[in-house]
Amino acid sequence: MTDGDKNEMIVTPWEVKGKVDYERLIREFGTQPISEELLQKIKKHTGELHPQLRRQLFFSHRDLDTVLNLYEKEIKFVLYTGRGPSGAVHIGHLIPWIFTKHLQDKFKTRLYFQMTDDEKFVVEDELTLKETSQFGHENALDLIALGFKPEDTFIIFDVQDIDMLYDIALEVAKRITYSTAKAAFGFQDSTNIGWIFWPAIQAVPCFIHAKLTGENVPALIPAAIDQDPYWRLTRDLAQKLGYHKPAQIHCRLLPGLGGGGKMSSSEPETTIFTTDLPEAVKRKIWNAFTGGKGTAAEQKKTGADPDVCTVFQYFYYLFEEDDRKLTEREKECRSGEILCGECKADLAERINKFLAEHQRKREQARNIIDKFHIKR
Ligand code: TYM
Repeated sequence: MTDGDKNEMIVTPWEVKGKVDYERLIREFGTQPISEELLQKIKKHTGELHPQLRRQLFFSHRDLDTVLNLYEKEIKFVLYTGRGPSGAVHIGHLIPWIFTKHLQDKFKTRLYFQMTDDEKFVVEDELTLKETSQFGHENALDLIALGFKPEDTFIIFDVQDIDMLYDIALEVAKRITYSTAKAAFGFQDSTNIGWIFWPAIQAVPCFIHAKLTGENVPALIPAAIDQDPYWRLTRDLAQKLGYHKPAQIHCRLLPGLGGGGKMSSSEPETTIFTTDLPEAVKRKIWNAFTGGKGTAAEQKKTGADPDVCTVFQYFYYLFEEDDRKLTEREKECRSGEILCGECKADLAERINKFLAEHQRKREQARNIIDKFHIKR
């Protein structure tokens, strides 16, 4: 989606720019906000609400209520999410995966995880198939490091596993016209035809559980809102193919350290990769865009603005679970009691602590990755 004004917002699966207006996305994508009633329904099954729901990082959905109603009638669902392996994983990608792990634990459901080495090959001019496949295997280590259980987690490496996907992809592709795909994804005359067919492949894991087990249950997809165009198309044809419409729960996009848009691998200096070393993290955080004033003296006098500060957002999204401490930090920022240097040092320390542990688990994951492959 684009608009013509100077703070132009663009949100597509391949590009996010400008200040993202989430209420406008709900309206224009035609999704539903997560109501208080729905939160209570979720809470019935999960106990305490996950911080990402409490803080409205997950803010929108399609048919989550339907999936929960079916669950209450003992019709289970499966989880589906994925990654386009174009480089290292960054901490923004971890947001939907951490939430997916929470849902897997609470609802005891299977997860299908699609590693789209084919997508990244057709979309990114400079990447070879060998590279996207290598990134795919490296990125899977990040998923496994979050603690998913192999018995319930099935990673699909598209190129390697295409024989399991191709029949459903064809059924899907036959039911999407070029003009529908063009309207959803903005294809141009210069778009290569691999890319044009590709969305049919991202639809397949919505339905693969039925093919593998004979059990026709809905898929619930936790992902950021940028992936939504895929599901609009898939939902339109699901019932024609005899399946449930896939349901979604959408999260916001963690911004890059430069502010605006989303954290994105193509801008490495404003992105924290899960493989970054402590010095790199410190340097990137030190250069982050904040809501601070020109001088310390001025800031002590008039305070700063956490609403526009990327450092504050990182505490909010991932690195301060305690609501009381977060509110305290916000108050101290607005009043000028705390300066940006302190917040940056605290954040860098927390991220480095998290990454040290994540990197250790990521290395251990090398020994067990085969247990997660859908063809195990
Ligand atoms: P990809 O690799 O762009 O993103 C992987 C997942 O991370 C989410 N995401 C973010 N979340 C929060 N903050 C950010 N800055 C941020 N950047 C990305 C994405 O929404 C996604 O959930 N085509 C897909 C791969 C895929 C997929 C799926 C994703 C295949 N099947 C099913 C989600 C669900 C892709 O390139 O994702």
